Amino acid sequence: MNVLGIYGSPRKGGNSDTILDRVLDGAASAGAVASRIYVRDLNFKGCVECGGCRDTGRCVTPDDMQSVYPKLIDSHIIFLSSPVFFYGMSSQLKAFIDRCQALWSRRMIMKSAEERKRHEGGRGYLVMVGATKGVNLFTGGELTAKYFFDSLDKSYEGGIFFKAEGRGDVLNNPGDLKRAYEFGVQAVKSGDHAQAGYNRRVTRE
Ligand SMILES: Cc1cc2nc3c(=O)[nH]c(=O)nc-3n(C[C@H](O)[C@H](O)[C@H](O)COP(=O)(O)O)c2cc1C
Repeated sequence: MNVLGIYGSPRKGGNSDTILDRVLDGAASAGAVASRIYVRDLNFKGCVECGGCRDTGRCVTPDDMQSVYPKLIDSHIIFLSSPVFFYGMSSQLKAFIDRCQALWSRRMIMKSAEERKRHEGGRGYLVMVGATKGVNLFTGGELTAKYFFDSLDKSYEGGIFFKAEGRGDVLNNPGDLKRAYEFGVQAVKSGDHAQAGYNRRVTRE
């Protein structure tokens, strides 16, 4: 099983990085092959809604996102991590997600309305860290994650949420790290999606 971790914080070695590392350790211990994307290291800009993907499902912008798209499609499980920034995700991660409009177009082309009621491309999970305790602290991030995974034909299976602020503060809480590790283990154990990913051929070509 291929598992992909997407690191959405601009802060290297920050709290969501540390938690996602533990989640992937757990996933690997359960037999998954884990790979990683660090959004802060990619050279790309946000979607400009040029419409270039509408009829093909392919983004026409020649930047680092081109090597990302196949990984998003082919992973059985994706763990998406972000800090809470103003009750949403980091702007870097949001720009990354916006660039998946091409995959949303792709799914519209490849799947009928009936088929789009199901998700056959795997599963997605969210990892978020915020500094405060607002009741809706993770609501914005969860909504964006849900529709990001939808564009990948993946079901959103839920998230794991933490409170921390200073860089690496989560390391002071072994309970949080254990919870993250176990989350990774359980995500892998909870289903064999060997059929994840679908035929890459875009039908309207
Ligand atoms: C621009 C910015 C906006 C933030 N907005 C919020 C917020 O709305 N709510 C909150 O609880 N924490 C907020 N925080 C705090 C971060 O979520 C917190 O420090 C988190 O641990 C950072 O995770 P990281 O180390 O993975 O980047 C904000 C921090 C920054 C820099």
